[in-house]
Amino acid sequence: MDGTTHPATPPVLILLGPPGAGKGTQARMLEERFGYVQLSTGDLLRAAVAAGTEAGLAADAVMKAGGLVSDQIVIDILRDRIAEADCAGGVILDGFPRTTVQAEALDVLLGETGQQIDAAVSLEVDDAAMVERISGRYTCAGCGEGYHDSFKIPAKAGVCDSCGGNEMKRRADDTVEAVGARLEAYHAQTAPLITYYDGQGVLQRVGAMGPIDEVATTLGRVVTEATTPA
Ligand code: AP5
Repeated sequence: MDGTTHPATPPVLILLGPPGAGKGTQARMLEERFGYVQLSTGDLLRAAVAAGTEAGLAADAVMKAGGLVSDQIVIDILRDRIAEADCAGGVILDGFPRTTVQAEALDVLLGETGQQIDAAVSLEVDDAAMVERISGRYTCAGCGEGYHDSFKIPAKAGVCDSCGGNEMKRRADDTVEAVGARLEAYHAQTAPLITYYDGQGVLQRVGAMGPIDEVATTLGRVVTEATTPA
């Protein structure tokens, strides 16, 4: 201890987990509860594809096949987004990093701004259940709120609870083939990050097979503990 008080830096939380683990669902709930900004590289890449940018054109086919987009493209997109003003109060990284190269790049990026990772949460689920979760998933085209044919149904069929929009959409990579490839990519390239963050002393494991609200309660407790100064 040097006796001086150091200013708290904006919280940085990472959600790790295979496709369908609930990263997006939980990140949106944390955003609402704590005010940190959800940064989903999947959403950022889908926006780049829709806008037809150079990065989007390069990412499109890889995403449809269920592979991982190149580290450089993803790191560049994340670096630009995290520098925006709304991220100054803290961020929830949803789907990033996904490789050791990305994790190391994030360490360098945060080092430049004096920030640190408060918690890397591994959402722990069974692969078999993930196919069911993903194949039943759809989102509101207007605000991005997520729903599921069985697990999360809007109060009025076809109408978004959050924004009242009535256009729902399903993702191009939610096919059985692509989901298989995405699970494979997760186990080969992303799961090693669990050990990486355990080594940094920031890993938290949260069981994510229970109902959405139950997972949210546990996760909220983990985030509160991780972001409360000792
Ligand atoms: P991305 O968009 O990140 O997709 P993903 O990781 O495959 O994850 P998902 O969005 O499918 O699942 P989720 O964990 O968010 O679950 P959700 O909350 O939606 O990435 C897509 C692609 O982009 C990648 O394949 C890759 O090509 C590329 N990409 C992205 N980031 C990259 C990176 N860093 N590097 C390289 N490439 C990258 O939940 C799923 C469904 O289950 C929903 O319907 C939900 O309502 C329901 N549900 C959620 N929780 C529960 C629960 N507890 N019980 C019951 N149902 C639940």
